[in-house]
Amino acid sequence: MAEKPWGGRFAEKTNKLLERFSQSVSFDKRLYPYDIRGSIAHSKMLAKQGIISEDDAQKIEEGLTEILIEIKSGGFQFSEALEDIHMNIEKRLIEKIGDAGGKLHTARSRNDQVALDIRLYMRDQAKEVVELIAALQEALIGLGKKHAGVIMPGYTHLQRAQPILFSNHMMAYHEMFKRDAERFEDCYKRTNVMPLGAAALAGTTFPIDRNYVAEQLDFPAVTKNSLDSVSDRDFAIEFCAASSILMMHLSRMSEELILWSTDEFGFIRISDAFCTGSSIMPQKKNPDIPELVRGKTGRVFGSLISLLTLMKGLPLAYNRDMQEDKEQIFDTVDTVKMSLQIFAAMMEELEINKEAMLLAADGGYSTATEVADYLVRKGLPFRDAHEVVGKIVRYCIENNIKRVGDLKIDEFQQFSSMIGDDIYIAADLERSTKSKSDLFKIDDIGV
Ligand code: ARG
Repeated sequence: MAEKPWGGRFAEKTNKLLERFSQSVSFDKRLYPYDIRGSIAHSKMLAKQGIISEDDAQKIEEGLTEILIEIKSGGFQFSEALEDIHMNIEKRLIEKIGDAGGKLHTARSRNDQVALDIRLYMRDQAKEVVELIAALQEALIGLGKKHAGVIMPGYTHLQRAQPILFSNHMMAYHEMFKRDAERFEDCYKRTNVMPLGAAALAGTTFPIDRNYVAEQLDFPAVTKNSLDSVSDRDFAIEFCAASSILMMHLSRMSEELILWSTDEFGFIRISDAFCTGSSIMPQKKNPDIPELVRGKTGRVFGSLISLLTLMKGLPLAYNRDMQEDKEQIFDTVDTVKMSLQIFAAMMEELEINKEAMLLAADGGYSTATEVADYLVRKGLPFRDAHEVVGKIVRYCIENNIKRVGDLKIDEFQQFSSMIGDDIYIAADLERSTKSKSDLFKIDDIGV
């Protein structure tokens, strides 16, 4: 038999540079469990349909199961000359069981085979990512509960705006991650469709049973169009798009953690176990994890753009360009899973400095809006109330008074005769924070 599984048509030997250039086995070998599972399902179907004998299907299953063990134990010799994981496994199967092995590829092409393998792989990954997101959400809820009632400044334009609860801030990320999980669950639905049977692009002359293959592999549906079956990578692009949005969220959170851990803010302390030092400055403790997550966000965005660019000019159906999808997919999967894992672990051990948060919330005249609301309740239109409180704040700044609530009652009354003693309740930091919490059901998590 020819050296390459496709070698029959070729008279000359393959150029060595081409072999190195076109191989994918160095990275697509991670698909091996899925390739083997798919092949076993395919060969059982071939036997059920009388296309190959039961005996051959039995030999194929045994051979593939042994190969699975060989690869797992590190004893399998991968060969770049055999291009990809599919041909490496098939060649080894033929080596082991002879002619029966050569029958496995009946009614199948590597084009539908690789589409199946990636779908099987991505299905598992989407599930794992959803679980990892849930673990991070748990860590955020835990933090919110542990520090229930802690007040911190809320920002707009990165200027202190209004006091908020720390738990409210944590739960904002919880909401983002909830949407992320939904996106992965949604993408899972379109990944969970069985493409085998399209063969190269046109289907096959053999009387195959696609639904039987789908059943064995737990797919609830089969693809409807043979060309689309082998040329569709939407599900991978969707995975990378969902990953990009997730990483954007993690990156925003990273930015805040980095800021909050500076001496200037001093709101949090990231545990030593999750930081590193400087090789020259002995005093340094650097927030590497959020920095790296923020940095790695770029490569996930990059993979999304790579995949979109890869696919945008491709005529139907399969084109070899599509082999370039794998490294982007794998890199995205690895980066997202690692980032989620390490973030959850880091957040579980996060310490907060509630005194620093409270002090910062207490400055910047952060209850000014609540004082304006007070005047509105006394009957002043909001615009006029805004103007009055603006003047009060200016007066405070000019007279070096740190909080609106530090003004004496007669000072207040110079600005409006509507102001009475109850102004001190409106200007109180804690009351003003808590009075707003109910609207957004922060107590969803009991804090
Ligand atoms: N390694 C190939 C890929 O990942 C498998 C499909 C090859 N098909 C082909 N007609 N050469 O896309």
